[in-house]
Amino acid sequence: MKITNLIEKNQFSLHQEEFALDVLTGLSSHPKSISAKYFYDDIGSELFQKISQHQDYYPTQTEFAIFQKNCAIIPDIINESEIDIIELGAGDGHKSKLIIDGFLDKGCKVNFYPIDISEKAMQLLGENLTVNENLNIHGVVADYFTGLAHLKKISNNKKLVLFLGSNIGNFNKAQSRDFLKKLWFSLNTSDHVLIGYDLKKDTHVLNKAYNDTDGLTEAFNLNLLNRINKEFGGNFDTSKFQHYGFYNPTLEAMESYLISLEDQHIYISALEKNFHFEKFEPMHLECSHKFSPSDIAYLASHTGFFVEQHFSDDKNYFIDALWQVQKESP
Ligand code: AVI
Repeated sequence: MKITNLIEKNQFSLHQEEFALDVLTGLSSHPKSISAKYFYDDIGSELFQKISQHQDYYPTQTEFAIFQKNCAIIPDIINESEIDIIELGAGDGHKSKLIIDGFLDKGCKVNFYPIDISEKAMQLLGENLTVNENLNIHGVVADYFTGLAHLKKISNNKKLVLFLGSNIGNFNKAQSRDFLKKLWFSLNTSDHVLIGYDLKKDTHVLNKAYNDTDGLTEAFNLNLLNRINKEFGGNFDTSKFQHYGFYNPTLEAMESYLISLEDQHIYISALEKNFHFEKFEPMHLECSHKFSPSDIAYLASHTGFFVEQHFSDDKNYFIDALWQVQKESP
C-alpha cells in the first residue's frame, strides 16, 4: 500500500498543545469535560476495536450485515467503470472491504484512499485488505478535509466517501451539519457519500451497548485519564472514578461521564495546576447521537445532498445513507 503523509512536522506538537489546552479548559469548566476525540491513542484505538467486536455493541455487527446484504446494489446505483472510494478514518477494513468487493465483483476498477491522522491505523488497515489487480490502495495520512482537498487535486474520478460506524453521531447537531456542508464543498457534483447513522431504539439496547458486560467501554473511558497521566504528567487514579453511560432522550444521545468517587485533587504537571473534584462530581466525555429516519432525510436536504437510497437492517437499528452531491449550474 502506498502511503502519502500530509502531516507537517510541527503539526504533531500543535496537536499536543491543543490537547493540553482542551484539558486545561475542560477541567476548569463547570461541569468538567474532556472531549472524546482524545480517546484514540494506541491503547484507546485497540480498546475501541475490541468494543466494536463485542456482542453488546450492536452498531458494528449491524452495519456489517447491512453491507453483506447490499454490497452488490451500491455499484449498480453508482454505475461507474472506475471509482475512487475514500474512507474517512481507517477502520479495520472489514466493512470497507465488503463495499470495495461489491465494486470489484462488477468489474469496476477501484482506487481506495483511506484518510486518517494515524499512520499506524493505516498500516493495520492495509494488512486486512486483499490484493486484486483492479484495486489500488493509497493511504493518506492527514486530517479529513486536507486529505479530501489533496484527492480532489490528484484525481478526476467519481468519488464515493465512506463515513461509517456512526462516527457522525459523536458530533453535536450543529457540528454534524457543518461537517456535511464541508464534505459537500470538498466534493464535485454527482459524487457520492455513504454515511452510517445509528437509529433511536429501545433504551435497554442502547444502554447495554455502552455498558458492555466485559467492562471494555469503562476501560475505554478510563484510558483517557491514563493518557493524560502519561502525556502530561497527571496523577489520576482510575480506581477513584466510575464510568456512567446512559441514554438521554431529550438530547437524543448516549452520554458518558466519569464520576469522581471521592473528594480529590488531581495535579497535572505539564499544566502546573491542581484540579479539585468534589465527591460524585461528574466529568463529561462523550455524546453518541441517535437519529430517526426523518432526521437523516432532513440532514441530506439541508446540506446539499440527494438521497439515493437508505439501507437498513431487519431490526431497524441502523441506516447507511447513500447520498449524491447536488450542485447547481448557472
Ligand atoms: C466511534 N464512535 C462512533 C463510538 C460510538 O458509539 O459513539 C465510540 C464509542 N463510545 C463508546 N463505545 C463506542
